[in-house]
Amino acid sequence: MARLDVTESFHGISFPGHLHTQESLESAVKFLFKDTDVLIVSYPKSGTTWMQEIVSLISSRGDPQLSRSVPNWTRAPWLEQYYCSAVLEASSAPHRVITTHLPYHLLGPALQGSKAKVLYVSRNPKDVVVSFYYFHKMANFLPEAASFPEFLDQFLQGTLHFGSWFDHIRGWTSQTAAAHRLLHVTYEQMSLDLQGTIKRVSSFLQRPLVDDEVNNCVKHCSFSSMRDNQMVNYSLVPEQIMDHSKGSFMRKGEIGDWRNLFTEEQNQHFVSVFTSKMQDCTLEFVWEK
Ligand code: A3P
Repeated sequence: MARLDVTESFHGISFPGHLHTQESLESAVKFLFKDTDVLIVSYPKSGTTWMQEIVSLISSRGDPQLSRSVPNWTRAPWLEQYYCSAVLEASSAPHRVITTHLPYHLLGPALQGSKAKVLYVSRNPKDVVVSFYYFHKMANFLPEAASFPEFLDQFLQGTLHFGSWFDHIRGWTSQTAAAHRLLHVTYEQMSLDLQGTIKRVSSFLQRPLVDDEVNNCVKHCSFSSMRDNQMVNYSLVPEQIMDHSKGSFMRKGEIGDWRNLFTEEQNQHFVSVFTSKMQDCTLEFVWEK
């Protein structure tokens, strides 16, 4: 199957060109947010789809009907992709839920002055790079995956599509970003305490739920439930875009899978780059279960 990996470069960052155009990226960074908007922000492979599902289920008070009948890219469209404005115009939802991988230095100005709520999702970067590596094998809209050692170097240098993980997390968790209405949720929190995380998100969104509703959310956004839901597992996208014979979008869903791929030497190199790039950053990461 021929790959679709046309690259669109925007402010020095590469994006997959079949979904991102100069025009769609330009309109994303000038987007007019409404105070009622909910923006899900993440670096790729950090648990974005999981958070989209959590927000959908909170909005429906745990009723999975919408999650099972409408694809997640329509329920929570990607701001920087060319179809976003059409989806938002057609939507009758009282609160728009929008998703983005854009870094703070590009999107922060558009958020200035808005009361939109931001859910920033992060994941320990060793698991991010492993998940991203396997995703490159099946996602035909991304460049052909290099060998893992090369891919790891590209990740650490910040030259992969969507830019540097370090810039992304540092930007979105900076004091300026925190001045927006922002809740930082980690993949590991979702994994270790899904119920508690759902309660935290629902309270941040000011949509409190009763216990039964929370339990229904938990049930319908479990790994197995999402893996079997065509509206979130990306099995509906054509093979030209994602080749499911080469892997699954809902791949493993674990904390610490990096242990199965990193050599000891790669781990040491990772730790040394991480330590130097994150030296003045107080965030703590959960690296394994
Ligand atoms: P793995 O490749 O490690 O399995 P994103 O949505 O940001 O692209 O992230 C995708 C990653 O989140 C994949 O990780 C996927 O399996 C994981 N994921 C999605 N939903 C999940 C869930 N309900 N429970 C655990 N992991 C989930």
